[in-house]
Amino acid sequence: MCGIVGYLGGRQAAPILLGGLQKLEYRGYDSAGIAVIRDNTIELLKKAGKLAELRAQMNGYMPESTVGIGHTRWATHGRPNDTNAHPHLDCQGRFAVVHNGIIENYLTLREWLISQGHVFRSETDTEVLPHLIEEFYMGDLVETVQRVLKKVDGSYAMVVLSLDEPGRLVAARHDSPLVVGLGEGENFLASDIPALLAHTRRTYILEDGEIAVLTRDRVEVLDRAGSPVDKKLFIVQWEAEQAEKNGYAHFMLKEIYEQPKALKDTLSGRIAPDGGRVVLNEINIPEEQLREANKIFITACGTAYHAGLVGKYVIESLARIPVEVDIASEFRYRNPLLDQNSLVIVISQSGETADTLAALREARRKGARVIAVTNVVDSSVAREADDVLYTHAGPEIAVASTKAYTTQLVAMYLIGLYLAQHRGTLDAGEIAQIITELRKLPGKVTSILDNGKGVEEFARRYYKCENAFFIGRGLDYAVAMEGSLKLKEISYIHAEAYAAGELKHGTLALIVKGVPVIALATQHTLFEKTVSNIKEVKAREAMVLAVAMRGLEEVAKVADEVLYIPRTHQALAPVLTVVPLQLLAYHMAVARGCDVDQPRNLAKSVTVE
Ligand code: M6R
Repeated sequence: MCGIVGYLGGRQAAPILLGGLQKLEYRGYDSAGIAVIRDNTIELLKKAGKLAELRAQMNGYMPESTVGIGHTRWATHGRPNDTNAHPHLDCQGRFAVVHNGIIENYLTLREWLISQGHVFRSETDTEVLPHLIEEFYMGDLVETVQRVLKKVDGSYAMVVLSLDEPGRLVAARHDSPLVVGLGEGENFLASDIPALLAHTRRTYILEDGEIAVLTRDRVEVLDRAGSPVDKKLFIVQWEAEQAEKNGYAHFMLKEIYEQPKALKDTLSGRIAPDGGRVVLNEINIPEEQLREANKIFITACGTAYHAGLVGKYVIESLARIPVEVDIASEFRYRNPLLDQNSLVIVISQSGETADTLAALREARRKGARVIAVTNVVDSSVAREADDVLYTHAGPEIAVASTKAYTTQLVAMYLIGLYLAQHRGTLDAGEIAQIITELRKLPGKVTSILDNGKGVEEFARRYYKCENAFFIGRGLDYAVAMEGSLKLKEISYIHAEAYAAGELKHGTLALIVKGVPVIALATQHTLFEKTVSNIKEVKAREAMVLAVAMRGLEEVAKVADEVLYIPRTHQALAPVLTVVPLQLLAYHMAVARGCDVDQPRNLAKSVTVE
């Protein structure tokens, strides 16, 4: 969603704030702005568009100041224009606020504030915050923020800069991430760790309800009741370079190429030395509960939901437990039939997706045990779940999720095998065989990446198409959904995924001469059926690119072109099948001149409903 930064120390604030915003631009890029204190005024610099627009407007100008806040916006309330850009000020220009989240009761608060004489400039929900602070300020910013927060409903991470108290920044969080960076004679705030890495790795991750009070030399964290909290220091383990492009043209490409390592890291430490068992020490579900579980629900959004679809096939076939998969924004409102015997798996790269977090809370409220599969250590999802399986994919910056997806798939296999071990649904030989194949996946992904030229050439020929279709059966259908999402989100080509057998029930009407159909054919058991479906679209003169597993070369007789993935256990094929689809989306988007890492209207982490 939006990105927030704050700085207070001995150095010039503006370059630090802009540098931090650059790292957070993946969270939103509808506008950017900073506010600093200079000559006893709050100087505001903000502009619609990407950070580059703000920098262009500043034209090298850096206001002299050692304290300030900044924001990069993903618009929810109010158009993405200069006025709606953050920071927002009160009437007198004494308080500046940056905010991520949604103030749900802002209309009521706005009306009341207007009746008290406040004058609003923007259409945003956020602007009620500086006006409320102005209304209640009695000489202590912390007390005022505490009072204001009692009046607002919704989600927020916010930072307040005040002319009356220029030596401190006050920040608060509820349902939106916020991290404090600890320096020497300086302190920082940011929505996410990449914004801090150039300065410090020592952090405090704020919890819901906490308020952080920063001065140059001290950080105090208070709980909801105003009592000091003894925060645990969180030392960031990744290197700053991991959040850089390292010579790749785009973060997305870099992250696609990082998949072999990411997959190894997901598996690392989770397989017994003899290769015969999965070991998930982080899951502490009592043996009896594992055996008695009668249903599993998987809930997630977007790409993570697609990983959940693969999870359903995998867990049902390995552990023989019925699995339902829900889009998180639907799950929370459909009154799912959960009880103590249900296990819920939530999947979220960021661990901060509002819909997923709400689904997690709903599941726990109903008494279900929740396992989180997430990439971001100490994220909200990680903290609120009963058990956490980290994917260890490393920072994913591109909006389009790639390595997060393949590592989530591996997490699904690990959970499937783990459940199978405890429920006795597979024998030792079968488990060992799948584990052996799992371990070979990183090397096989490398070989697909090393032979990626075919995809690039195909993209060069078809990038001008207006529609594309992805078809497949079984696990291939689940991967088709991810391939189609990748293509549409970054190249803006209209793409749809269909269960190959379902085409004839309607969608076949859309198949006309030359339309690209990407047909996935990696499942031996369904191969003949898929071939028949390819013939159906070929009969309508579609242009078929097949992605097939080695050994299924027969497909070349019906498809126009074939990309092969190496042989593997057919349940594991999705990890390989998706790689050419990621590359296809990437090269199509590049050929169309799209902004690959920051597609229009999207943000990396969606922390509003
Ligand atoms: O951080 P999460 O995994 O919870 O994010 C969920 C979706 O917003 C995300 O997977 C989105 O669909 C991807 N950006 C698509 O590439």
